[in-house]
Amino acid sequence: MIVREIPDGIEALAPAKLNLFLEVHGKRADGYHELETLMVAVDWYDTLRFRSDPSGAIALVSDDPDLPIDRSNLVVRAAEVLQEAIGIRSGAAIRLTKRIPAQSGLGGGSSDAAATLVALNRLWSCGLDLMDLERLGAGLGSDVPFFLRGGAAVCRGRGEQVEPIAIPRPLHFVIVRPAVGVSTAEVYRRFERTGPIHPMEESLKAWRQVDIARLGRSLFNRLQETAERLVPELTQVRDALKSLGSLIDGQLMSGSGSAYFGLCRDRETAQAVARHFETLGQGSVRAVMCGPLERDSTP
Ligand code: C5P
Repeated sequence: MIVREIPDGIEALAPAKLNLFLEVHGKRADGYHELETLMVAVDWYDTLRFRSDPSGAIALVSDDPDLPIDRSNLVVRAAEVLQEAIGIRSGAAIRLTKRIPAQSGLGGGSSDAAATLVALNRLWSCGLDLMDLERLGAGLGSDVPFFLRGGAAVCRGRGEQVEPIAIPRPLHFVIVRPAVGVSTAEVYRRFERTGPIHPMEESLKAWRQVDIARLGRSLFNRLQETAERLVPELTQVRDALKSLGSLIDGQLMSGSGSAYFGLCRDRETAQAVARHFETLGQGSVRAVMCGPLERDSTP
């Protein structure tokens, strides 16, 4: 994420993420699933602005009328969790400009929560370090600890155990989001393993060697089959990406869906792919070109 001071507070840019590899190792006693995933934060952002409010109230407003602005929004919960952890009397007025669609597997809600923890830690001078924030973040959502570090990482456990890895450059993605969204909880509820555990080694090797063709071939998401069975319309976007042939080096659904992404060998090809989806005239399908984001500095 990118966090900076503005005249009356703090502004944070909260990025989306893509999963280039995701294997589910099994269901745990606590109901969550044990994962192994390779994630990268990309330069497509929500924008959040924070102003301190001495009354102690947490007030969220958003440009997206469909977005809840009460405690069911992770931004409000993140602010409250930080207030409680510190026993602080300050509140905040928060303005969220939403670009990353919900129910996409792009981690928008978790990223907004991570940005809120970092921004309010600064605004309220809480003095918490990254480990403190990770502990609070993990309680809010499995992907929040990843977003606190940003960059790229192999994540394990339920996703909250983050092992940062170097980011090969350049990488060019086109994210394609169908009109319909997918509930993460529903995908996991219906998940049933078909086939043996898929090792991550091949994806990691290709990632380290910046071998785009090999990385493209190794893209893997165990949740894709379940999501496509749950929401059959998703396969239209999958097939539209596949039909591009050599324009893309690989394509995959991100997280629990509904967004897919194509991996392209260069910027020009990514531009051509994004244009292709725009001119398809499927107004509700959105295509966004993006690349990896540098790792953040610590809070
Ligand atoms: O952690 P988070 O709130 O983002 O997860 C949303 C839902 O996805 C959880 O309630 C759980 O049902 C499911 N989930 C899971 N295993 C994971 C991550 C999420 O079963 N590793």
